[in-house]
Amino acid sequence: MDDATYGCPRSSSRPPSSATSSSSGGCSRGRWNDPRTASRRCPTDAGDGKKRILTGIRPTGPLHLGHYAGALENWVRLQGGHDCYFLIADYQVSDYAGDIARVREAVWTVALDWLAVGLDPERSAFVIESLVPEHAELALWLSWFLPLGMLQRNPTLKAEMEEFGRTSVPVAFFTYPVMQAANILLPRAHLVPVGEDQLPHVELTRELARRFNRQFREVFPEPEGLVGRVPRLVGIDGHAKMSKSRDNAIYLKDPPSVVTEKVRSMYTDPTRLRATDPGHIEGNPVFLYHEAFNPDRDEVADLKDRYRRGAVGDVEVKQKLAAALNALLDPIRERRAYFEARTGLVRDALAEGTSRARKAAGTTMALVRDALDLDYLERHRDDPSREA
Ligand code: TRP
Repeated sequence: MDDATYGCPRSSSRPPSSATSSSSGGCSRGRWNDPRTASRRCPTDAGDGKKRILTGIRPTGPLHLGHYAGALENWVRLQGGHDCYFLIADYQVSDYAGDIARVREAVWTVALDWLAVGLDPERSAFVIESLVPEHAELALWLSWFLPLGMLQRNPTLKAEMEEFGRTSVPVAFFTYPVMQAANILLPRAHLVPVGEDQLPHVELTRELARRFNRQFREVFPEPEGLVGRVPRLVGIDGHAKMSKSRDNAIYLKDPPSVVTEKVRSMYTDPTRLRATDPGHIEGNPVFLYHEAFNPDRDEVADLKDRYRRGAVGDVEVKQKLAAALNALLDPIRERRAYFEARTGLVRDALAEGTSRARKAAGTTMALVRDALDLDYLERHRDDPSREA
């Protein structure tokens, strides 16, 4: 990439620096990253000797703290040393088929959230799944080698299908783990940083890669799952998992007052009625969040100690948590605002990343076709009847 096209003017049009990337200058002076904090990757070393990463998110709405601590934070860290593909999995939202408008909107929301946390489209490809239709093609071939029972036993899929309750489950929902395997295998990824609930899908992908490689030819690396610092974040209501559908999430784009209000309403130790009652730390969401997000370890230790002794009120514990969360989210909000005012950059990030993924897909599909011996039309090329 040359600077004539990609250099950003040394002016206020710079994005605010990433919340998580480390400082020190580099040679990348892209439109998307702050020259002060950009990575050290030079335009010529794209992917050289680097392991490939593919991971993804379904476009169903804004991203929350659970996504951040379980995955995004890890992605930002990993993008420096890996060749990354970040996928917006719009083939995999059949449960939102009745609300396509929301999906279309969420594609942008997710891309904005990614930019906001510091994912850098100059280093990492932002990919819209359905614009790389090879995903669907590969998923179909892979499904040949997947026994039905293996899908039926997948614990994550089972739990999600139960959430459908009485309504019927679309076939595409049942088979989404195959699509996910295709997502991972198409760029021949080595690593898949995901939340804990996704590990069964990575395991399935490994199995499919092994079967394909064994039966035909070594085409796919066996990818490894990589779980983030907080594998599963509880919701603000104390439910086991933060999620949009349970309405128990703190979103990366929530303004400070909303975060403060959500924290104020958080579920805490139900056995504690007065600030002078000794409280429980274990399993208390407020303290789980302090652990996960408050970098001031001394403050956390002090609050825990006083809480156990009945020497601090919930109000103070929550105020300190809200302050820590807002400090974490402030730079993310700032970057989000920057890109919200420059939607052309978001568009270019998606377009360029998708085009990169399409190239990688072409390479892999050529290998797959070759392995499967699909060159039907190579036969009878020289038959004289063609001369007519
Ligand atoms: N199924 C994942 C989720 O719900 C999203 C996803 C789609 C994904 N394709 C992927 C994750 C490929 C990792 C790799 O969170």
